[in-house]
Parts: sequence; C-alpha cells; structure tokens
Amino acid sequence: MPDFKVANPDLAPEGQKLIEWAEAHMPVLMRIRKRFAREKPLDGLRVGCCLHVTKETAVLVRTLMAGGADVALCGSNPLSTNDAVAAALVEDGAHVFAWRGQDRDEYYWCIRQVLKHGPRLVHDDGADLIVTLHEELSGALKDMICGFEETTTGVLRLKAMERDGILAFPIIAVNEARTKRLFDNRYGTGQSVLDGIMRATNLLLAGKTVVVCGYGWCGRGIAMRARGLGAHVTVCEVDPVKALEAVMDGYQVMPLREAAKVGDIFVTATGCEKVIRREHMELMKDGAILANAGHFNVEIWLPDLEELAVRKERVRPCVDAYVLPDGRKLYLLGEGRLVNLVCADGHSPDVMDMSFANQALCAEYAVKHEGELEPRVYLVPEEVDMAVARLKLEALGIRIDKLTPEQKAYLESWRLGT
Ligand code: NAI
Repeated sequence: MPDFKVANPDLAPEGQKLIEWAEAHMPVLMRIRKRFAREKPLDGLRVGCCLHVTKETAVLVRTLMAGGADVALCGSNPLSTNDAVAAALVEDGAHVFAWRGQDRDEYYWCIRQVLKHGPRLVHDDGADLIVTLHEELSGALKDMICGFEETTTGVLRLKAMERDGILAFPIIAVNEARTKRLFDNRYGTGQSVLDGIMRATNLLLAGKTVVVCGYGWCGRGIAMRARGLGAHVTVCEVDPVKALEAVMDGYQVMPLREAAKVGDIFVTATGCEKVIRREHMELMKDGAILANAGHFNVEIWLPDLEELAVRKERVRPCVDAYVLPDGRKLYLLGEGRLVNLVCADGHSPDVMDMSFANQALCAEYAVKHEGELEPRVYLVPEEVDMAVARLKLEALGIRIDKLTPEQKAYLESWRLGT
C-alpha cells in the first residue's frame, strides 16, 4: 500500500474513467509507455513529481511507473488537484499527497512528503519542489540524478539558482522544447484559459474587449483564441519586439493604464508580479473581470484588490465580486490562480501528450547519461524534441517530406551562392 493523503480514496473509480479518457487522447505517451514497460529504463528509481494533479499528469505517472519507477506525487498549485484522479493514482500504487483547496502550509507539507520519499529524479512545475529540496534537504542533493522543469516560471527560477551558484544538480528545461512551448503554452493555454473564463462566467466573448497582459507563448495563444470568439483584443507588453509582433498580428497595443479604462476582461500571462495593481484597478469599469494564466497568483496583485474593496462576496463558483467604495464591482476568477486549471480542466490531453512525452523521454535520457551532466539548466536534447514531433505526426497519420542527400549537402555548404 502506498503512503498517501488525498481528499477521498473512494473517488478512485471516477478518477480511473478520467484517466482512461486522457489515455485515449495521448497516443505519443502511450507508445512511450509500451516501450518503457518492455525496457524498464527507470527500474527501481524513486521519482518525485510536483505537477498539477490532473488526468493528463496521471498518464505521465503511470508511464513512469511502467518504466519501473516508484513515484511520489504532490500538486504544483493549491487549487489545481482533481481529487478523483488523486484517488485513482493511489489505487495504481503511487504515493500521492494532494487535494484541492490547500492552504500554504498544507501545500508545502505535501511537497515535503514527496521529498521524504527520497527521489533521485524530480519532475517539477514552477520549481517549488526543487527549491524546497535545496533549502531544506541539502544532504539529499548529492544523490540527485536530474530534475525536469515543466513551465516558464520554473525555468526562470532555476536559471536564477544556476546564476547564483546554488543549483546542485542538472535540470532539463522541458518547457523550452519546441514540442512543448509552441503547442502547450500557445494552443493549450490559449484554449483552456478561454474555457476557464467561459465556464466560470458563462458570458459571451463576442464584442467584449479582452486585454491580454504579456504577449509571450501563452499570451499569443490567449489573444488568438479570444479574437476567434469575436472579442476585440488589446495587448499590453513591456518587450518592444513582442509589442511590435502584437501590432503586426493585428491587435491594439497600449499601456495597461489606458487599457484598464476600456477592458471588459483582463487576462495576465507574464510570469511577472504586480502586473494589474491598484492604479489599474481604480480605472476599471464596473463589472470588469480579472483572470490570471501565469504560474503564480502574483500577477493580479491581490493585496491591492483586498485593500481597495469594501466588501467581497462569492457570486458563482470560481467568481468573487470585489465591491469598491463607489459601488463598482470587479470580478476575480479562480482567486487569481491559473484560471484554466482552477475554473476548467487545464490543458487538453492531446497537447499534454507532447509536453509529458518530453518529460518521460528526458527522464530516460538523464538516467542513460547519469554522471555526465553538470549542475546546470539544459535545453531538451534535440533528439528528444524531434522524436516527440515525429511520434505525434505518426499518431496523427501525417507524413512529411524528407531532404534529398543533395539538398542536405546544399544546406550545409557555404560554397554555393548566386
Ligand atoms: P513568455 O516568457 O513566453 O512570455 C511572457 C511575456 O510577458 C513576455 O513577452 C514578457 O515581455 C511579458 N511581460 C513580462 N512582464 C510583463 C509586465 N509586467 N507587463 C506586461 N508584459 C510583461 O512566457 P510564457 O511561456 O507565455 O508563460 C507566461 C506565464 O504563464 C508563466 O508564468 C508560465 O509559467 C505560465 N504558464 C501557464 C500555463 C497555464 O496552464 N496557465 C501554461 C504554460 C505557462
């Protein structure tokens, strides 16, 4: 029997059905699982995961277990755990410490349980597990083979640790794989963030002004899908190149202080703190809706909202109305945490197929190259990225062209010109 703490183990049958649905839409990871079951690349290894406990994550956990790993799992956000999935994974034999609706202490308690398990590989989303390991369990650092980071914010934190000379074991930045961020961050976040906003509010997007803060991979996807639903999209950026890209993609671009006056729905996707703060909230229209897609709940600055409001009430599941002194109401979705995971199901399995295929193949790569990697943040090996793309195309039944030997030589040569 695994160690665990979940909301309700009796939810396992419901969770198994959810996981089966995800498995049916994650062909790449399922192919990898089949091979892992034969070859056991992770045989006997303890693996710690701090990931959103969703049905898609369950497919990854089962794949790691098929490869021979003994897996302990906690959530990477206090509000993103699916309790049925958590229960099903316990039934499968994983050590799961996760339930939806944790306070900060409970969240870190779960991370510590996973670390107590003694993992030598860690799959993280946001770097909370890896940071805690460095801060609290320095004795265990020498046993680590490698860590894998799923998201942009986590990669930034780990690169800062590398820069400060603190990082003690190698990390592969799964987020940086082309088969991850081009699809997961853009199409996955684009669709699921809109899904979260629509499920939470049940409002029409057509004709509304949607303000997207941050025009990186996630912001591009959110803006694209909001426009597809008929919204007028305004982008706010701090990077001049990204701002220019948004202009040429056909969006309005302006500072947030101007956009604050006209926006109906605001979505942050920056990875930065205090993006929407008091000075913006004060300018917003009555009824403005605030949602965050970035990893941490720091982008919409909640202390300012709490301070500004004279009253707060939950008006629908996932929607809190903040009443300002002049009677205006601002609506905050999902307590300012990842709106797609809190108010909807998160990314679709079809897209997590590629992200988690990268996680699984990177784990195999790290074990094969144990002792060869330095304590640095590495990109996903090109061979892994390409393998994931090939497997996805194959699963979709799509064939592509190949370079002829002559073309290959031409592309590699400097001799041939005009
Ligand atoms: P990115 O680095 O591609 O884009 C972030 C953009 O925000 C950049 O263009 C940057 O210039 C801009 N920015 C930074 N500070 C800003 C500010 N104060 N005001 C306006 N713009 C600002 O990052 P990516 O991949 O788009 O990720 C964004 C966030 O979303 C991260 O926290 C990441 O971890 C998270 N994420 C969330 C997902 C979800 O499921 N909701 C999925 C993937 C990533």
